[in-house]
Amino acid sequence: MIRQIEKNGVKYYYIGNRAICCMLKIAYGKAQLLHLGAPLSEDDCEALCCETVLGWEPGVLYREGDTRSCLDELPLAWSERGTGDYRETPVGLLYEGTEICPDFVWSSAGEVNAEEYDAVLPHARGAQETVKLVFTSSNRLLEGLTLELRFSLFETALVRQAVLINRSDKPLKVTKLMSACADLQGSFMVSTFDGGWIREAHIHTVPVTRSRVVNGSAGGFSSNRHNPGFLLSRPGVSDDAGEVYGFNLLWSGNHYSSVQRSSVGFTRVLQGISPDGLCLDLLPGGRIEMPEAVAAWSGHGYNGLMENMHRFVNESVIPEAWRYQERPVLYNNWEGCMFKFNEGKLLSLAKKAKKIGCELFVLDDGWFGERDNDQAGLGDYSVNRRKLPNGLEGLSKKIHDLGMQFGLWFEPEAVNPDSDCFRQHPDWVLSSPGTGPFYARNELLLDLTKPEVRDYIVESVSAILDKADIQYVKWDMNRNSPVSGNKAYEYILGLYDVLHRIFDSRPRILLESCASGGNRFDLGMLCFSPQIWASDDTDPVERLDIQNGLYYLYPQSTIGAHVSAAPHGVTLRATPMSTRSNVAFFGDFGVEFDLDSMKPVDEVELKETIAYYKQHRKTFQFGCFSRNGAEEGALCWQVSDGKETICGLFHKLISAGPEIEWLRVNGLDPDRTWHVEARSQLLRVGVYGSLLRFVTPVPLDTEGTIIRLADRHYQMRDGGFSAECSGAALQSGIPLGKRFTGTGYDASLRVQGDFQSNVFCIVPKT
Ligand code: GLA
Repeated sequence: MIRQIEKNGVKYYYIGNRAICCMLKIAYGKAQLLHLGAPLSEDDCEALCCETVLGWEPGVLYREGDTRSCLDELPLAWSERGTGDYRETPVGLLYEGTEICPDFVWSSAGEVNAEEYDAVLPHARGAQETVKLVFTSSNRLLEGLTLELRFSLFETALVRQAVLINRSDKPLKVTKLMSACADLQGSFMVSTFDGGWIREAHIHTVPVTRSRVVNGSAGGFSSNRHNPGFLLSRPGVSDDAGEVYGFNLLWSGNHYSSVQRSSVGFTRVLQGISPDGLCLDLLPGGRIEMPEAVAAWSGHGYNGLMENMHRFVNESVIPEAWRYQERPVLYNNWEGCMFKFNEGKLLSLAKKAKKIGCELFVLDDGWFGERDNDQAGLGDYSVNRRKLPNGLEGLSKKIHDLGMQFGLWFEPEAVNPDSDCFRQHPDWVLSSPGTGPFYARNELLLDLTKPEVRDYIVESVSAILDKADIQYVKWDMNRNSPVSGNKAYEYILGLYDVLHRIFDSRPRILLESCASGGNRFDLGMLCFSPQIWASDDTDPVERLDIQNGLYYLYPQSTIGAHVSAAPHGVTLRATPMSTRSNVAFFGDFGVEFDLDSMKPVDEVELKETIAYYKQHRKTFQFGCFSRNGAEEGALCWQVSDGKETICGLFHKLISAGPEIEWLRVNGLDPDRTWHVEARSQLLRVGVYGSLLRFVTPVPLDTEGTIIRLADRHYQMRDGGFSAECSGAALQSGIPLGKRFTGTGYDASLRVQGDFQSNVFCIVPKT
């Protein structure tokens, strides 16, 4: 509900529902933020007013003689330098080369009509209500300059946006314009999701103090270094209890957010695009609309916040055609082949992929131009006939004849210097004046701010999509940008234009975006691509941290997660197939290794595994996600659709002499009886190593032919477990079967060495 309230001659705005609430007071023409967070009643607005009286301190008064008008001490929803607020400012304007203070004052309010939104920027869809508060500049030089603060209320989140409209007759430069500004009361911890290539989204938490904490990116991406999403939580918050805020931005380029506690205890939170090097023209008649900034709140710890964030993304960000639509199990040939393949090899892989249950075959890098390694071909769209003599159409037809969908990898934003595209259009390359070129992965970026470059990409990609009967696109981008400031900002607008033009008219194509793995895992890309390749690191132990970080902000349905080879290509860690699968279950499941080298036991296991995933796919992809109290360094992920609940219990390094493990399940009807069944997993004979000598009639060489042969063709059942009990007992925890500690075997023993895991399905007893 959005309401304007007048009390004792003061204007208030109430924007709230059962999940979040924001209350504003218009005082001195400024928007004071009385509250953002827990749902409160509009009747509370007067009680929330914060009135500080200035004494001898040197604070600046906004109204002469009014000792309550020190903006520096008030909670604000917007601010400008030059009005007496010395906290970080959300806006920077230059007029004739000098910083100028617009001193915006409230003028009106109204709804935001559909046509008022910038057509290129991505937007969240399906707001319950929207309001814009309009402020005009009271600076005598800037008469007509207008600021719109937009508030859109969604079922589980609030979206804010700032729009600057120059109705003055002065040409201005914008050096900073945040999407949103908020001053929140009380103590906080801030959590950011940081990393790098193959190490994305690791959570880091520090207290919010008087020093500023900045979460930003500079490489032209939203970045794997610092995801634009972050959390503010009260000290002591847990998965189930306490107050947490989640913030995010619908933007895929350089971003900036900061948090800092003021001298009177308000934490200023800014969210927006990076102001680094920014100097945008705002000419008379011009307007600049900033990306949408998201805020969600929970009083029930991280689990409550994840539920709100996930619902917002699933229902309001993901393209409509894919909302709650099950994603296919895919096979991707990259880790299995890299650049080395031909049609025969791909068809052999596709047949095996089909046999184990994959539904979509994705041909990754290497199908075009002279692309036999990463030094040539990017930018070209002609099919490499040496590898694919029947072209993409021929391959696609054969894949479809096998009963699978066909998907294709592109990296349209980049060129290799060794490409026809670059030879013909060397001037299309993005560069900063007078320097470079600086290469990364032997690539240069195309300048997406140029209309002719955008046309080339749109025409080239569209022609292939229409000719080759393609159901899925992996849109990759593999290098940091050589530019910053305006150019980097305009590049992302160019990218959004290209994505709109290719995919708006082809809504049934499933787009998976990727940037060297998770270098562009953000809400901007999710407006076009329902899923994102989370990381080139498919080692399940690493993925536990990566996916666990992403879940704070993004639902399982957005996270591409594949089973790959062991030992793993980047960590050389050997992990069981069961764990590789169990981790990939909690995302959009795929398979990505050379199936021609798949052992017969792997084939049996993957077939069972994929069948299990498909049976529970809706719950895995769209079920309500939460975590619950696993002990001894274990991690427990839970998904539930209200009817069935699935828990994954994961171990990293185990210790000897383990304590009894307990299965704890959140949110079940406590009075109902529930049936718990562990997924039946398989176990290689070889895991027992030299212990086998004690059970075989003749001593066997554990590295020898007999054990190797047994491991190829035979596996034992592991970790069988079932129970029936009340939801109350499951909430409190039920003991799991014993772990292997040196002797014995039966099918219910849990052989839980390092990196082992189990998955449990819980349904009502019939
Ligand atoms: C990036 C992607 C990989 C793969 C390669 C191909 O690294 O993240 O998944 O597509 O490019 O070059």
